[in-house]
Amino acid sequence: MPTTPNEKGDVARLLKEVTLLPTASIVDLGSGWGGMARFLAKTYPDHPVIGYEESWFPYLISKWMQWIRPLSNLTFKKENFYRADLSKVGLVYCYLFRAGALRVEKELLPKLPATAQLISLAFAFPNTIPIRQVPTMGLWNGAAYLYNSTRAD
Ligand SMILES: C[S@@+](CC[C@H](N)C(=O)[O-])C[C@H]1O[C@@H](n2cnc3c(N)ncnc32)[C@H](O)[C@@H]1O
Repeated sequence: MPTTPNEKGDVARLLKEVTLLPTASIVDLGSGWGGMARFLAKTYPDHPVIGYEESWFPYLISKWMQWIRPLSNLTFKKENFYRADLSKVGLVYCYLFRAGALRVEKELLPKLPATAQLISLAFAFPNTIPIRQVPTMGLWNGAAYLYNSTRAD
């Protein structure tokens, strides 16, 4: 389900709290049609943005949009994001489903760089306290959550 303009606005409110190191990258875990990755790439033109998507159809739509309206700092990868190298990442964004959020919390959050922050739209991590959350007016009428990496380097 692609994000709505309202949800992008809600995420933008959380982005005001995010501090990125100059070389840090931004990733969208499960970039779908690419709309949110494009929004992030426009918001942070000096940072590389990578969208990971494992399903062919949304991936091809996102590539097609890149062909029509290219953004130089944006890349899409047809890849399972659990196998991605996230060692240089500064901001992780995801909009998954309950079990997906749980798995990201368990498997990826502890491996992120100490300076990384993570935004989960609609689905909170059940065992981590967000540093901020904003209500959203999307399909789920829930919230968007901002987390710090829990890794202690
Ligand atoms: C709800 S859509 C979110 C789209 C986009 N991030 C947004 O905010 O508009 C979730 C996407 O995650 C993808 N996805 C789920 N698990 C994945 C995985 N392990 N690796 C890559 N993509 C995955 C799904 O195929 C789906 O397109």
